[in-house]
Amino acid sequence: MLQIVNYPHPALRYASRPVTQIDDALHATVRAMFDLMYAAKGIGLAANQVALPFRFFVLNLTADPQQKDQEKVFINPEIVKRHSSIEDEEGCLSLPGLYEKVRRARRIRVRCYDLEGNLVEHDADELFSRAVQHEADHLDGKLFIDYLDPQAMRSAEEKLREFELTYRQAQRRGEIPPDEDLVRRLDGMTQLPADVVSGVPPEPPAPADPDQAPAPL
Ligand code: NI
Repeated sequence: MLQIVNYPHPALRYASRPVTQIDDALHATVRAMFDLMYAAKGIGLAANQVALPFRFFVLNLTADPQQKDQEKVFINPEIVKRHSSIEDEEGCLSLPGLYEKVRRARRIRVRCYDLEGNLVEHDADELFSRAVQHEADHLDGKLFIDYLDPQAMRSAEEKLREFELTYRQAQRRGEIPPDEDLVRRLDGMTQLPADVVSGVPPEPPAPADPDQAPAPL
């Protein structure tokens, strides 16, 4: 069962590995992530936030589960252009209730695969741009609190201590495994051959029928 993990869960500091197969398992995971995101009233959710060390995230800037046409999936995203910069308030589902101003590129171009395996590019500005940069950071193990200036950091400190305390208490009660176990589990997921991770062979065994083959990435 997937669930959103909170700071300071080590998955949030994990540099994730690329997705190698777009298959039924990935489709199901993406669906589950959208549902978790809507339940938490978020607009974006990265795989790291559900303790999966793989490079993809989901967005729906409307946060409205009825607006399925606004759902976007970014697989192995790469921000290829950044233009200018702008500061605005930001929050994160893994740091619930914490909002601080963060400076980001104003406009970006992002290249990624979609869920059908097409290589696509999006030019993004405003909230779209900010959300993509925030989620792409998650895949590198980065959080928006890493960008806070000293004043914003002081205002965030108490909340961060609370998150830390709540998390360590849950570990002491045995509700969350020790960090070293969590890291071992993440390492294990990234080191397994692709067939164990995703349920399909790591290499196409034969020149694949293009209609049958999962999209190589
Ligand atoms: Ni976030």
